[in-house]
Amino acid sequence: MFRLRLTGFRCYESAQLDLDARPIVLTGANGAGKTNLLEAISLLAPGRGLRGARLEEMDRHGAPEGEGWTVAATVATPGGMVEIGTGHRPETVNRRVVRIDGKQSRSQTGLSDHVSAVWLTPPMDRLFTEGASGRRRFLDRLVFGFDAAHAGRVSAYEHTLRERARLLREGGDAVWLDTLEGDMAERGVAIAAARRELTARLARLCEAPAGLFPGAAVAVTGQVEEWLDDGPALAAEERLRAALRDSRPQDAAAGGAAVGPHRSDLAVRHLGHGMPAALCSTGEQKALLIAIVLANARLQTAERGRVPLLLLDEVAAHLDAGRREALFAEILALGAQTWFTGTDRSVFDSFSAGQAQYVAVRAGRLEPATGRVPF
Ligand SMILES: Nc1ncnc2c1ncn2[C@@H]1O[C@H](COP(=O)(O)OP(=O)(O)O)[C@@H](O)[C@H]1O
Ligand SMILES: [Mg+2]
Repeated sequence: MFRLRLTGFRCYESAQLDLDARPIVLTGANGAGKTNLLEAISLLAPGRGLRGARLEEMDRHGAPEGEGWTVAATVATPGGMVEIGTGHRPETVNRRVVRIDGKQSRSQTGLSDHVSAVWLTPPMDRLFTEGASGRRRFLDRLVFGFDAAHAGRVSAYEHTLRERARLLREGGDAVWLDTLEGDMAERGVAIAAARRELTARLARLCEAPAGLFPGAAVAVTGQVEEWLDDGPALAAEERLRAALRDSRPQDAAAGGAAVGPHRSDLAVRHLGHGMPAALCSTGEQKALLIAIVLANARLQTAERGRVPLLLLDEVAAHLDAGRREALFAEILALGAQTWFTGTDRSVFDSFSAGQAQYVAVRAGRLEPATGRVPF
């Protein structure tokens, strides 16, 4: 990314940064606006961004009524420079506007052709100990980087799942339920297949320890995945359709649906001692996540000839000095444009002069800074 511009986004009235391809270090006090900036960048990829926020939550408080927000960037792609813009206009309820090279795009899916972004944030320290939905979102984000259609499939599937639940609650007609379940079966199997294929390729790269980061066993688990192990996709689709039909009474009572890819999970094990990630120490869990994110970046480089943007919020300060250096070295070797945040600039001292770009964030203002000068 070479230029980033924001207007009306959370604490930013308007801000602009000119950048080059090196890693970026954002430093500033608590509440300065570091995570907000990473969130803005995360919206250049499909989805709801790194906080999963609603569009109007990101409208700047105190801004004139109806102003909305915009995030725009010039990004380098294997095909050349592309201008990407996204934003919220209050009149377009629940739909963010996407522009690619000046042309309005009907969906967010097109963003995946140009930008792939993966992040680690402080709430993700609990990714392995909380419910499966966070792990599915994390895995889906990795899939977006390889399969542009995945984002659209997941949101269409979730929409149909809600629509079916509403119909079951209201005692809707069986023909319409058949149609919705047919859609869910088709998309659901495509979602499970995409997750399963990426996980298998990623698993090979995650197995070996990378520097000081542990080897990890990663697998996606779930009923639909098991059906895909057993036989062809069409058979899995038929089984999902039948299972949905059979679970109507149960789903009408409990809400949701008893089977489907919305129940899958990402299982991760630390290969150093064989423990499931949920039983590893907090530090080990973080190291596992970093190992997966780095493996994903290597896989994208190998398969797609591009590196994802990595947004690492408050990650560096929590690593010991050895792992921190190993992470910086790996990022530099990958050539991934990585955004680091921290309150303390000295944490980044093992980048040598010129290896990273420094930006000071103060109360919603961005100021390019030199690396060694205390702020
Ligand atoms: N919609 C909004 N409008 C204006 N300010 C906001 C909005 N949402 C959050 N903020 C403010 O942005 C500030 C910076 O938040 P954040 O980026 O999380 O800080 P940090 O630098 O610690 O990561 C907080 O003080 C928060 O109150
Ligand atoms: Mg923050």
